[in-house]
Formats: sequence, structure tokens, C-alpha cells
Amino acid sequence: MTGATSRVALVTGASSGIGAETARLLATRGIAVVVNYLHSGPAAAQVVADIEAAGGQAMAVQADVRDPAAVETMLERVSAAWGGIDVLVHNALTPYAIKSFQDMTWEELGGKLDDEMRAAFVVTKAVLPTMKEQGWGRLIYLGTGLSRRPREEMIALGTAKAALTQFARYLAQELGPDGITVNVVEPGPVAETKISAVLDEGQTQRQVAATPLGRLARPADVAQAVAFYASEDNAFMTGTTAAVNGGMSMY
Ligand SMILES: NC(=O)c1ccc[n+]([C@@H]2O[C@H](COP(=O)([O-])OP(=O)(O)OC[C@H]3O[C@@H](n4cnc5c(N)ncnc54)[C@H](OP(=O)(O)O)[C@@H]3O)[C@@H](O)[C@H]2O)c1
Repeated sequence: MTGATSRVALVTGASSGIGAETARLLATRGIAVVVNYLHSGPAAAQVVADIEAAGGQAMAVQADVRDPAAVETMLERVSAAWGGIDVLVHNALTPYAIKSFQDMTWEELGGKLDDEMRAAFVVTKAVLPTMKEQGWGRLIYLGTGLSRRPREEMIALGTAKAALTQFARYLAQELGPDGITVNVVEPGPVAETKISAVLDEGQTQRQVAATPLGRLARPADVAQAVAFYASEDNAFMTGTTAAVNGGMSMY
């Protein structure tokens, strides 16, 4: 692998779901991909194996994205092999309480806000120096439609992701002069993910019925939007949000 001839993307939380699919798609576009994970080493190794079997380049690197020292160590490993990060896809999903405001404690709500913003802050700080130096970079954050449209018991995730989306807009304003675009991909409910596995059949059917395109998103649908924002094709969109929800919610 030659860092000089290929873009390098860091996909946080790429051992499963949307992150894994995004890592696979970016690799098919000739990007060398860092498959970050926290606990699921074998799953991350499988994503790397899939990418390599398809002729792409990837490495799995364990790091808790809330921990600056762990993220620095991860980037040192990447740097030694491939150089700096050109594309950040911040996708990792830290745990959160699913319950009403009535039942929620401040530790649960405040803890999720802290985790969400700390992770975004830490990874963004870590990747920016290379992007600024080269005058080119792509920052893409995974949001959720729940940050605009409340759903029962999702107050912790929806509130934290709303903060993340506004954080991205502020970054877009500040980093535009450095040639860095910053965008958010905001999926509706996505099938074949851990959260979709806990929905019962009735809930899934109601979501499909509320979706003009007649099905739930798949991880690959979300990955396509991320890949556009990551590419040279996106020369002039920054501070935007792409809703990948089949028309379930329009704004
Ligand atoms: N699924 C949906 O329906 C849906 C809808 C809207 C938005 N989204 C957004 O899309 C993103 C991905 O969702 P998903 O459902 O695909 O997630 P997921 O399958 O639950 O995967 C979460 C990933 O995050 C990693 N992770 C968790 N904590 C971490 C940490 N502290 N440091 C590093 N990695 C960490 C996990 O790694 P390990 O397993 O290795 O611990 C895993 O790879 C999230 O930001 C989510 O909010 C999802």
C-alpha cells in the first residue's frame, strides 16, 4: 500500500451495521480504510478480510473513540502504514438509555450527551492537522432522523445527535477556508442493524407503511450517501444533511 497514491478513510465503529458497509463501499472506490472498533475484534477482522478479498485495502484498529490517548495511538499506527487521514466517517454508536424523560436520570441523559460529543470532539481534533496541512479533507458524521422528529423513549439519542448535527455545521463554517467539507448523513430506521433487531414485527410494519419508498433503509443505502460526501464529486456541499429515509420524513 502506498499512502501517497490513495486516500485514507477512518470509519469509526466499522465492525458492524452501517459502519461495516461503509468501509466495504469506500474500499471499492479505491480508498484505504481504517476499520475502527471497540469490542468486536473478530467482526472487524472479517470486514477487513472481505475488503481484501475484493481487492481493497483495509486495517482493523481497536480504539475507544472517547479516549484521546487511544485515538492518538490508533492514528500513529495508521500514519506509520499509510500516512494521515483524508476522510473521517464518524459512525460509532455509544450506548444510550431507551426510556421516557419521566424515567430517565441525569446520569443517563448527561452521560449520552457527554459520550456523543466527546467522541466527535476527540476524533475530529485528531484527524484535522493532516487535512488542514494538505488543504483537503472530508468530515462526515452519522446523525439520525430522531434528532428532528421525536420518537417515544429516544430522547437521549435524539438530543445527543441534534447536538452533533449543529456541531458539524459550526465545523463546516470554520473549516471551509481550509478546503474541508463537513456533512451529516441522517438515516431513518435501518434494517440489518442491532437496533432493528430489537424492533418487533408490528413496529417494523408501521415504519414501512410510513415510508413512501415502501421498505426500510439498508446499510448500503446509507453507505452510498456517505461515499458521495467522501468523494471528489462533492466539491461544493458543506454544512448539509442528507436524509436517507425513503421519504419517511421530508425537510
Ligand atoms: N441502525 C439504525 O437504524 C440507525 C438509524 C439512524 C442513525 N443511525 C446511526 O448510524 C450509526 C451506526 O449505527 P449502527 O446501527 O450501524 O450501529 P451498530 O451496528 O450498533 O454499531 C455500532 C458500532 O460502534 C462501535 N462502537 C461503540 N462504541 C464505541 C467506542 N466507544 N469506540 C469505538 N467504537 C465504538 C461498535 O464497535 P464494537 O462492536 O466493536 O464495540 C460498532 O462497530 C450510528 O451513529 C447511529 O446513530 C443508525
